[in-house]
Amino acid sequence: MPSTETITLHNPLDMHLHLRDGDMLRTVAPLSAHSFSGAVIMPNLVPPVTTADDVKSYKERILSAIGKERFAPYMTLFFKPDYDSAFLESLRDDITAIKLYPAGITTNSEGGVSGFDVETLRPALEAMSALDIPLCIHGETNGFVMDREAEFIPVYEKLATAFPNLKIIMEHITTKESVAALDRFENLYATITLHHLFITLDDVAGGMLRPHLFCKPIAKRPEDREALLKVALEAHPKVMFGSDSAPHPQHAKESCGCAAGVFTAPIALQALAQLFETHQAPVEKLQAFISDNAQRIYGITPPKKSVILQKQPFAVPAAYNDVVPMFAGETIDYRIKEVIDG
Ligand code: NCD
Ligand code: ZN
Repeated sequence: MPSTETITLHNPLDMHLHLRDGDMLRTVAPLSAHSFSGAVIMPNLVPPVTTADDVKSYKERILSAIGKERFAPYMTLFFKPDYDSAFLESLRDDITAIKLYPAGITTNSEGGVSGFDVETLRPALEAMSALDIPLCIHGETNGFVMDREAEFIPVYEKLATAFPNLKIIMEHITTKESVAALDRFENLYATITLHHLFITLDDVAGGMLRPHLFCKPIAKRPEDREALLKVALEAHPKVMFGSDSAPHPQHAKESCGCAAGVFTAPIALQALAQLFETHQAPVEKLQAFISDNAQRIYGITPPKKSVILQKQPFAVPAAYNDVVPMFAGETIDYRIKEVIDG
């Protein structure tokens, strides 16, 4: 007997999403736009999104790719230290945040920042602070791969102290050290992905290598996942869901020189429902993690959408066009029964 048990999520938000461009955009954007009310769109295109024209034209391409779905693309700029306050002010209504990448740390981040000298960054970060534009950071050093995020904590601390009114979002945190930093600085927040709540490095490389689970930051140790789970399941007021769904074509993942990124957008809500149920976390906590915390932290009001998830087996497709999702070919416990505007 199929279960009639359902969960309704209101206005789900994905606060860290890669939509890419061209054919890939047309494949993946409708999938997010179907089940989410909005998403913070990452700017690491080639070349990255750095000008007013880039932001506006990319938004147009996204809106055209999603057709009639009700979905807010919250646009971001790729951080450059030379952004001045006049430029940022002119773009204030077109962007929701600015994303900072350390140079070369991940996919398409070559034009990022090298060195985190406060005085060099001061003009841009003070302008952002005055305009209340959040700064999203990919927080990794170029040290040993398992230590990169923990080694980056002093940079977060330095920036959080130097710019106390700047909202700093630690993106896709993967370690217990980042979780602990949240409570030490009022202006530090974090996104947590789906995959880092499910996997550790063992799932990626403990047996046969699983390229579709390879991403930056790499999945860490069981105690790190426990720390992430704790704050996600209790919907710690400073954490938000950000899938970091990062699609790459199958050939780029299943190759020697595998591209980093896990594609989770079309299965994220279903898998989160399963995860919260497994851990007996109340649905109100899932609602806060998936939308309410982000609305409060970013001060956004997304389009109204209700997603009804039903406890029924969902066979995850082997691929969406040529992109392989997390849990491909496996069955998860929840499916999307209906999405209602309003
Ligand atoms: C992302 C991508 O492919 O754009 N990859 C990833 O492994 N997460 C970039 C990023 O967010 O690091
Ligand atoms: Zn990302």
